Amino acid sequence: MNILIHTIDFGTPEYDEAVRLRFDVLRAPLGLNYTPEQLAEEYDQVHLAGFDRKGAMVAYLNLTPASEGVVKMRQVAVAPAWHGKGVGSMLVAESEKTALSLGFSIMTLHARETAVSFYERLGYSRVGERFEEVTIPHFKMEKTLGR
Ligand SMILES: CC(C)(COP(=O)(O)OP(=O)(O)OC[C@H]1O[C@@H](n2cnc3c(N)ncnc32)[C@H](O)[C@@H]1OP(=O)(O)O)[C@@H](O)C(=O)NCCC(=O)NCCS
Repeated sequence: MNILIHTIDFGTPEYDEAVRLRFDVLRAPLGLNYTPEQLAEEYDQVHLAGFDRKGAMVAYLNLTPASEGVVKMRQVAVAPAWHGKGVGSMLVAESEKTALSLGFSIMTLHARETAVSFYERLGYSRVGERFEEVTIPHFKMEKTLGR
């Protein structure tokens, strides 16, 4: 598969493209949107995106430091035309390498219930009870990196 993955910078046209992709995949189906305050908090976070052969962004995820050695994966979104083709798995694998290189040893995330088995295939385990976020059920999941 011909997907190029690299980090993108906050406040650039690529970041704006990522926000549009995230809105289409993660927020619009729930009738929600991002607030300017939520996006402003992302200035120092790691933004990782996947691009197709023509340079169109087809996938995105965000890494946000959570505590000593722990980083949170957020906003995992693959464009619908690319679902089930391995792009999400590739992006998560790349984010784990990035997290390790930044000195993190634990990846944590809040998985939508519908995506729990996607993360389980990638070595993530559920932690604790189901809870609600952005109006839908989620589970906290974690993985120890570098094993
Ligand atoms: C969930 C998502 C990121 C997965 O990305 P993807 O590129 O479609 O996933 P992959 O092609 O790498 O899938 C890897 C495996 O997980 C499975 N899988 C993918 N999405 C799944 C889902 N939602 N539920 C269960 N299994 C899933 C695939 O069938 C595949 O299995 P296989 O290896 O046996 O073929 C993507 O479908 C998506 O953006 N969904 C909408 C937004 C969302 O739910 N994001 C996650 C928020 S926590």
